[in-house]
Amino acid sequence: MAGKKKEIILQITIHNQEQWEEVLSSKGLIVVDVYQAWCGPCKTTVSLFRKIKNELGDDLLHFAVAEADSIDALEKYRGKCEPTFLYFAIKDEELLEEEETSPLPTQIEDEELVPSGKSYTVAIIKPDAVAHGKADEIIMKIQDAGFEILANEERTMTESEARDFYKHRAGEEKFHELVQFMSSGPCHVLIISKSEGEDVIPTWREFIGPTDVEVAKKEKPESLRAQYGTEVLYNAVHGSNDREQASRELAFFFPSFKLQQTEESRTPERTLALIRPDVLKDRKDEVLQSIRDAGFSIAMQKQIMLTKQQVQEFYKEHVDQEYFPALEQQMTSGPVLALALVKDDAVKHWRNLLGPADLSEALNEAPDSLRARFTPRETKINQLHGSSSPVEAEKEINFFFPVERTLAAIKPDALEEHRDEIMERIQAAGFTVSHIKETNLNQEVAEEFYKEHKGKPFFDQLTNYMCRGPCLMMILSKENAVQEWRSLMGPTDPTEAQTSSPESLRSLFAKSILQNAVHGSSNLNHAMEKMKFIFGDIELERTNNETLTQSFLNDTADEVKQSDENTATEKNEAQPSQEDG
Ligand code: CMP
Repeated sequence: MAGKKKEIILQITIHNQEQWEEVLSSKGLIVVDVYQAWCGPCKTTVSLFRKIKNELGDDLLHFAVAEADSIDALEKYRGKCEPTFLYFAIKDEELLEEEETSPLPTQIEDEELVPSGKSYTVAIIKPDAVAHGKADEIIMKIQDAGFEILANEERTMTESEARDFYKHRAGEEKFHELVQFMSSGPCHVLIISKSEGEDVIPTWREFIGPTDVEVAKKEKPESLRAQYGTEVLYNAVHGSNDREQASRELAFFFPSFKLQQTEESRTPERTLALIRPDVLKDRKDEVLQSIRDAGFSIAMQKQIMLTKQQVQEFYKEHVDQEYFPALEQQMTSGPVLALALVKDDAVKHWRNLLGPADLSEALNEAPDSLRARFTPRETKINQLHGSSSPVEAEKEINFFFPVERTLAAIKPDALEEHRDEIMERIQAAGFTVSHIKETNLNQEVAEEFYKEHKGKPFFDQLTNYMCRGPCLMMILSKENAVQEWRSLMGPTDPTEAQTSSPESLRSLFAKSILQNAVHGSSNLNHAMEKMKFIFGDIELERTNNETLTQSFLNDTADEVKQSDENTATEKNEAQPSQEDG
């Protein structure tokens, strides 16, 4: 019985005018196979339609077969021998109302997820391409290129949405024009992914080509922008710059779109720890050992000299407290070591380990606490800081270790011999490759690239070596990217790398101090300059983080540099070298 009932739902057989009218009063899409009595309904289509209905199980989708000879409404289809399919879309008033009132930006359900382990990017087919009727063609090309489209939503941005979406470009001369253009008509907003393990962000940016359509036409004629764009502003498609931007854009367009989190992909909690100057100068190693003994790993560390202004900014909630002047004095009296500590429940564990904030309370009531154990004589201020909550921890970590971008290069011989191994290590270390370009440097470009080394005895050798074959140039982004990349590379000289940072790239893949496999910028200013030099045509405005921290780093550049030499991430204990340009 159950089978029969299902069959009726899968396909409706219409025998007469009355049934015809009844079926046509149903809401949704009705597909009717109109047949002649002498040949019967088309067998293949009937079974295909049943299969579709069975798989979709959509209440608003109806398949029917109707005999033309016995239904008045089908009179004009009588006596025809070609297959005839009629489509009726009957609007549901309630549904229509819902659609009209449901707020943008999303109609996507919560359960639609970006699978864990997969990277994603937000892509936009902009109003110019949509207005020229190119959206479907572009979507087909995207699929043919092996991208997976996880969501596709057609929508028209309001001016205020466009302004908000591009707020990081608000200072630009063409901002108003950009907002007008992006809100001028419908666009398609897509969430795009690639197969597991592949970072879709650089692949997508490579696929869409340079921002400037003229450059795209010259350098990447097969790219989407070269094919569908008409000028810089009207460049047909958009792609997120890096993981941080992709996540912001995903939240902007698809707030209910969730990322699948598996046990393995869930990252343990982080907290910020600060070791203040008095204890840092004499007992740094002891404190670090106690941290490791308590089961924390040190994800990032940075030794810096803070200005009063920075202390006031970091402790803005404490500036009115009577202890603040002493705290400020202590925090600016010498270098401070900032650490990002990782462990399950890191915030709570670190605070427990620290003990009471009040020093006399710590000494009297918790003599085993770190604050009690690491109290130099005549110090009124406790020497160790910990974030108060996971949310505060992320803010504080962002203060000391903002997301940055740096220029990285794989040099010719290493690219030929170890490309995949190096790329895997870059991904595994959590960098996002936002731009990538394989390029043959000529002598002039190599000399400009390494201009900081002009006059050094190895300069000619270095520039000749860099022109020997293609290099892979990349923009990497990550929290604290400049220093993190330098740590992953290891010291300039591979013999030193092998002893101090055996897991570093130079330890593993460099042949000599000259042929040392990889290159990285030595500070944020150099990074910005070299990124522009190599990827001149791309959007390289400073991110909010970089703008905010630029002054921070400029103010303390010397101290940072000095501390760079003494500090390394724990992962490989690499010592960044001062040599690199
Ligand atoms: P890189 O990070 O690219 O920055 C400058 C490069 O100069 C460096 O890596 C090495 O390839 C090269 N270099 C630095 N010191 C020496 C040296 N003493 N002899 C030869 N090459 C060097």
